[in-house]
Amino acid sequence: MESYAYPRHYSPKDRQWPTRRLTKSPAWCAVDLRDGNQALPKPMDPYQKESYFKLLTDVGFKEIEIGFPAASMDEWTFCRDLIERSLIPTDVTVSVLTQAREHIIKRTMNALKGIHKAVCHVYIPISELHYRYVLGETRKELVQRTLESVRLVRKMADDELNGSKIGLEFSPEEFTDADLDFAVELCDDVVEAWGPRPGEKVIINLPCTVERALPTFYPDRIEAFIEKSSQRSKSIISLHAHNDMGGAVASTELALLAGGERVEGTLFGNGERSGNLDLVTFAMNLQYLGIDTGLDFSELEELATKVSELTSMPIPPRQPYAGELVFTAFSGSHQDAIHKGLDRVEEIRKHFNGWKIPYLHINPATIGRSYAGAIRINSQSGRGGIAHVLAESYGIQLPKELLTELANHVQRRTEEAARELRPDEIWDLFLHEFARQDTPLRLINYWPRPDVTNPSKIYSEVHLEMHGKGFVLHDVGDGPVSAFANAMRQLNLPVFKLLNYEERSIGSTVDAESITIVSLEKLPEGKTFYGVGFGANIVQGAVSAIVSSLNRMMRG
Ligand code: KIV
Ligand code: ZN
Repeated sequence: MESYAYPRHYSPKDRQWPTRRLTKSPAWCAVDLRDGNQALPKPMDPYQKESYFKLLTDVGFKEIEIGFPAASMDEWTFCRDLIERSLIPTDVTVSVLTQAREHIIKRTMNALKGIHKAVCHVYIPISELHYRYVLGETRKELVQRTLESVRLVRKMADDELNGSKIGLEFSPEEFTDADLDFAVELCDDVVEAWGPRPGEKVIINLPCTVERALPTFYPDRIEAFIEKSSQRSKSIISLHAHNDMGGAVASTELALLAGGERVEGTLFGNGERSGNLDLVTFAMNLQYLGIDTGLDFSELEELATKVSELTSMPIPPRQPYAGELVFTAFSGSHQDAIHKGLDRVEEIRKHFNGWKIPYLHINPATIGRSYAGAIRINSQSGRGGIAHVLAESYGIQLPKELLTELANHVQRRTEEAARELRPDEIWDLFLHEFARQDTPLRLINYWPRPDVTNPSKIYSEVHLEMHGKGFVLHDVGDGPVSAFANAMRQLNLPVFKLLNYEERSIGSTVDAESITIVSLEKLPEGKTFYGVGFGANIVQGAVSAIVSSLNRMMRG
């Protein structure tokens, strides 16, 4: 097993963050168009970036990092387009990234000419791993380059962009893998070199560039940084976490408790390697806690589709909130519990004083998703799930015993097909098994009418075929259904008893408005056989259900 060089852990003197609770939203900065874009196999072109920018403003982001204008022609063009075509809403501040190098800063600042307001984001790697082994620089050289860069941004802002309001963001890259005292000293010097004017603050973005520790590490560092910094009142502490160990959301949540005020990330976590912090999960978690985030994810599916199209990055089906399967249950016991919970949702809400459903952590409706697809049917599914799907898609409730039988057929079919079944396939299977059984008996017509000798009785005239041979049967009964059953007994059929028939309404998604469900008992075994019929009225529905049920009985 490999032995890893972990970053050094700093504990704040008197750790405060574990005792705090999240009560308010941080400021948000979406870095999709820079950090997200730079990690795409095929980066977005300026047109795609423009559509993405619009998505971000529609969600409600007020700070958006739009790119690295000095890095490529596309990046430059996009920045210029936004400015020259006045595409930046007045309440949105864009930022641009630059390395701490003179020629790059110059090109970056030139890209901002004519902008109303913007943030110039300067970064420099500060971990020993980087400055010694990648850059081949000393700490002293690094500090000098950083401070010269900050002063250059200030000078260009004052001299060449004096009609624009330019702010500074500084990122000591690999902050979580760097010497903390060095990071504090450098950031304090940066704030001093910038010299914030009244009402102005420097954004000090403290990145977890590569996640190399467990989630409690980041908040400890942030709290220790804040404790040591002498420029706290002139800076905004910003968090920027990558997700190499899968802990970006957790570590950033904790780092907010430790004093973070602003959060950078991307929609659905696109970004270098395992991604940036997923802002959707993060903001939805805060919303779950009752915190108003100012971000609107009420049409999340549509957003996910558009992001996926623009970035050519699929959203994994288990992605929190947005994944196709995150509100879906396949297993029978989960389906049953969800089904029961949804049936009593208002009662449960009252009891627990809030929305709560087994196996669902939020109400899918809050992000524009419905329960309709929440339960899907595969070979693991049971009666509860099938009941839910038929109720949701066809507005029908079936008796328990019939559902149990149907569940066996569904299981067999899903196993044969080695895939899940869609609601329409389950409905077809239901009809095939219980309603469309027409051999050996095939009903041609049924005329019930009052008996001429005793009008309180019903006289039946049944036209049917059995094994292809035609029959016309007559009999009487107390009602039209029992008169039919009596007529049928003249044939050479198993002995049966009519246990029950009932009409149930069905939703508007199928052509008939009601179905009749009949149960017959085969004697002497006592086994029940269900049949289902459709008809203009309950009598026609019931007799075709009896025929289906008898056919099922005869075929065992
Ligand atoms: O992850 C990182 O450190 C960055 C910086 C440039 C902020 O993206
Ligand atoms: Zn990053």
